Amino acid sequence: MTTSRNDLDAWWMPFTANRDPRMIASAEGMHYRTPDGRQLLDGISGLWCCNAGHNRAPIVAAIQHQAAQLDYAPPFQFGHEGAFALASRIAALAPGDLDHVFFCNSGSEAIDTALKIALAYRHARGEGGRTRLIGRERAYHGTGFGGISVGGLPANRKAFGHGLSGIDHLPHTYDREHQAFSIGEPEWGAHLADELERIVALNDASTICAVIVEPMAGSTGVLAPPKGYLQRLRAICDRHGILLIFDEVITGFGRLGFAFAAERFGVTPDMICFAKGVTNGTVPLGGVIVGEEIHTALMQGPERAIELFHGYTYSGHPLACAAGLAALDLYRDAGLFARARAVEPVFAQAVMSLREEPNVLDIRVVGLAAAIELASRTDMAGTRGYDAMVQAFNENDLVIRISGDTLTLCPALIVSEDEIGELIEKTRAVLRAVA
Ligand SMILES: Cc1ncc(COP(=O)(O)O)c(C=O)c1O
Repeated sequence: MTTSRNDLDAWWMPFTANRDPRMIASAEGMHYRTPDGRQLLDGISGLWCCNAGHNRAPIVAAIQHQAAQLDYAPPFQFGHEGAFALASRIAALAPGDLDHVFFCNSGSEAIDTALKIALAYRHARGEGGRTRLIGRERAYHGTGFGGISVGGLPANRKAFGHGLSGIDHLPHTYDREHQAFSIGEPEWGAHLADELERIVALNDASTICAVIVEPMAGSTGVLAPPKGYLQRLRAICDRHGILLIFDEVITGFGRLGFAFAAERFGVTPDMICFAKGVTNGTVPLGGVIVGEEIHTALMQGPERAIELFHGYTYSGHPLACAAGLAALDLYRDAGLFARARAVEPVFAQAVMSLREEPNVLDIRVVGLAAAIELASRTDMAGTRGYDAMVQAFNENDLVIRISGDTLTLCPALIVSEDEIGELIEKTRAVLRAVA
């Protein structure tokens, strides 16, 4: 039984040291406010999701209006205008013939949806033997069983059994010796894509369904793809008829200066997973953008037969779609993707100025995403990072993200040059405090 209305034990918080939460009461633009009135600089766009900053008026108004108009409509056999409108807008932003959008509610669901569509595509084509799925070390694809199976972060996998069978992993693309302090795509590492040839040789292409990668690995600490790596991966997939899926949950909607990283890197996958920024983080929404060939292969049954036995009660929820349409309008009208491209060099130089601070082993930056990798304390891996996050919140009025002893900065695309300066100076103070 809870002891009070605000008993801190009742909410089992996700990915959190539950005995030590930090409270946030309100938000606006680049800032949060704590219950005791302190203003904090948000250095991580919520959780890589509030790309246009917090509580933007047009999005708030769209959600309020939608809640009064149509609170809910079932997505199974029925529809509403907002879902079709948003799907069309997203398809228009996506490259190539990625023209069909399946909605779900989160990044994790988007990953499981994409993997299931890939398997269903094989089944529809009479290639039922092609079930092997290939992920990559250090990948984060959310927390569903599909996502942790193709994911490559040991802590997210080890307590949860064997996951899906028939999974392989490419090696991750990081090598400090060759890549330290890279701005943008590292020069070294394209050849690591050739590991896919080794996996094909071992298993035979006739058993392989799809490869899934984050074009830029975010959660593990910002690993931009080595120059030419994604092109090479695409070419090997084409050679062997393997589907290529991009997890753009973080990179979608402007983080790297384009609607999708696929555009920045000039590589078109067969499916794109998205979530987070699509609604500017306001209402949960995720989805998968699917290319023509996959879609056509699955649209073959009789008129009244369900083509894909998959979906969610809240697929294309009216509030999420209204928020998504308003967010896409805002991104377009404020030119925020181009703005991210314009401030990227300023951000990169500013972050690199932390290079000589104590314990900094590496800094990686691409788009408006940066990771500062710190040396771990002897026998206490992760404690320096954790202390940095707490120090930032309590003493420096700053919200940052950590992954072990690596700090992540990913400000909203509205961040001003002054705010970049403030973000870096606050981070510098944090680094000195945890030295
Ligand atoms: C690349 C990537 N994929 C998937 C996810 C999972 O998204 P969600 O937390 O909405 O399930 C995340 C979340 O950070 C992510 O960064």
